[in-house]
Amino acid sequence: MEPTDKGRGGELDVLLHTEQTFPPPKGFAERAIANDPSIYERANADPEAWWSSWAEKLEWAEPFSQVLDWSDPPRAKWFVGGKLNASVNCLDRHVAAGAGDRVAFHWEAENADDLGAEGRRGVTYAELLDMTQRFANVLRSVGVGKGDVVGIYLPMLPEAVAAMLGCARIGAIHNVVFGGFSAESVRERMEFSDAKLLVTADATLRRGEPIPMKPAVDGILTALPKVEHCVVVDRCGTKPAMTEGRDLFWHEALAEAEPVCEPEQMDSEDPLYILYTSGSTGKPKGILHTTGGYLTGVTATHRLVFDLKDDDVYWCGADIGWVTGHSYIVYGPLANGATSVIYEGAPNYPAEDRWWEIIERYGVSIFYTAPTAIRACMKWGDEHPEKHDLSSLRLLGSVGEPINPRAWLWYREVIGGGRCPIVDTWWQTETGAIMISPLPGLTTTKPGSATIPFPGIEAKILDSEGEEIEEGAGILVLTRPWPSMARDLYKESDRFIETYWDRYGRDTYLVGDAARRDEDGYFWIVGRIDDVINVSGHRLSTMEVESTLVSNPKVAEAAVIGIPDEMTGQAIVAFCIPQGSGEGLEGELREYVAEKIGKLARPKRIVICDDLPKTRSGKIMRRLLRDIAAGEHLGDVTTLRDPDVVQDVVRRFADQGD
Ligand code: WTA
Repeated sequence: MEPTDKGRGGELDVLLHTEQTFPPPKGFAERAIANDPSIYERANADPEAWWSSWAEKLEWAEPFSQVLDWSDPPRAKWFVGGKLNASVNCLDRHVAAGAGDRVAFHWEAENADDLGAEGRRGVTYAELLDMTQRFANVLRSVGVGKGDVVGIYLPMLPEAVAAMLGCARIGAIHNVVFGGFSAESVRERMEFSDAKLLVTADATLRRGEPIPMKPAVDGILTALPKVEHCVVVDRCGTKPAMTEGRDLFWHEALAEAEPVCEPEQMDSEDPLYILYTSGSTGKPKGILHTTGGYLTGVTATHRLVFDLKDDDVYWCGADIGWVTGHSYIVYGPLANGATSVIYEGAPNYPAEDRWWEIIERYGVSIFYTAPTAIRACMKWGDEHPEKHDLSSLRLLGSVGEPINPRAWLWYREVIGGGRCPIVDTWWQTETGAIMISPLPGLTTTKPGSATIPFPGIEAKILDSEGEEIEEGAGILVLTRPWPSMARDLYKESDRFIETYWDRYGRDTYLVGDAARRDEDGYFWIVGRIDDVINVSGHRLSTMEVESTLVSNPKVAEAAVIGIPDEMTGQAIVAFCIPQGSGEGLEGELREYVAEKIGKLARPKRIVICDDLPKTRSGKIMRRLLRDIAAGEHLGDVTTLRDPDVVQDVVRRFADQGD
């Protein structure tokens, strides 16, 4: 399934073979916020002064007395003694400065044309502040306060932003779960975090069809006695059952709530949110971010990496349920007073030109999306973007997985008209903000490389002994603390240390990615070094999928691997030993995983086999399975308990192929 690049194919091929580099266009560089290369030297000579200069742009109720306390690594304290509120920084201060009528979000419904005026809402800073304060008062009225955890499981609606900021206003910790995850995944994340309240919607619209959310949530609420209330946004008018005393409709509760809510002044190190992400075990990790440092990190990176100016219309196409949504739809853009777009639906609904229509409609100037989406658009063909005037675009961004040069060049030529710089931004849920990325007015880009660390950030590549590799491939680490770094794994402090800070010492953050550094010092991310696979930019743990499969009584054993995939970057293949007959089990198991975890985890292939290749001590050899799937030479298999198994698995893999 080679993506086509009709029309421009010839041009792209030429570019691909010249290994061209792209300096910032002259006009762009002249006008860029960051266009003095000494910014790197200054920031790296005195990182604390650099980050402090960004923190000072925020509004503090009490100033901080120390920039960084790194006396007990990896326990970092940033902006010690300072007090502030994230919602005040995202909303009140802009309204107070006279920007109340400025649009914070142009919200575009999936079915915008059918909804009339309601389908395209311009939510101003004043309106978002009103919604946020009212929701914060609803939370307080049902007994949610500082330090309590609130779950948020919503479609892409302005209410999702207000729900997050409403939590921040009163010091409650939000725990957002991506709307595409299953109710079972929500249950697990609510249980791990002891959530007190859950915000959801009656249903979410998918390709014109309402998919029930509240009815699915009802099934888990009974198993979550600590969740005392459920607030329901009425998105689709599906009239879900409401339990008296427990469930409230968002619009009713907000209409009755007081419009003003005094913000809780939080310590700089008080938690702002937790966000679960997959690790190398079956149990997701609750990444904890705090207030002052996180806001500083996202403000600085959003301003400089996206060169954000007052007249920009910025659109990050991620979902709010991922860290990209947290940092670059909600906190970064709002702290910077940006005008953004939020689009509710799929890029190809009702047609493949939906995104380009939105860019034209709102005059989007900065567009940020994931390589997997770029590859899908590339496959759908150039005729869709060509139908629209995309001349408002001036900067393009990519995030979530390595972008292949062909997709990079297509993005640049077909979407960016050859004139827009591309910022390929490498970072993680744990880093909170962009770590390695070009600055568009300064950095010469190379297709496929995230280029160099952001000013103040220090990244290195180490070998297994911890020696630095100046040029070549190895293990990527970050060797200096930064303000938006994760502070902990929620309720799993030991696991935090073990996962990230044990390998090379307590002051060296182990990223979990392998990378290569070239002769110019540019970083090229190669992929994960752990059992995490990246499907369409979504992190999934092979262990999580395996334990889900074996929870099905028809499965005796399962081994899950990631294989390269043209469209999704990686795809999931599961090898399963059935309990009893494996007849017709493939489809059933694919659906089972989709239902238990979410559609994003649905394996591309299930291979039913009688046995799996194991070492003499009984460990499944996943590496061998990866070689089988890749059709590679298998080498020495004599260390296996039963070498014959391999031939059987090879045959099954070939027989059951599509
Ligand atoms: C991968 C998403 C290459 C990487 C912001 C990382 C990338 C993981 C890039 C984090 C990029 C993210 N180039 N790989 N530009 N961006 N990754 O936590 O493997 O969902 O460790 O954060 O995605 O995924 P997460």
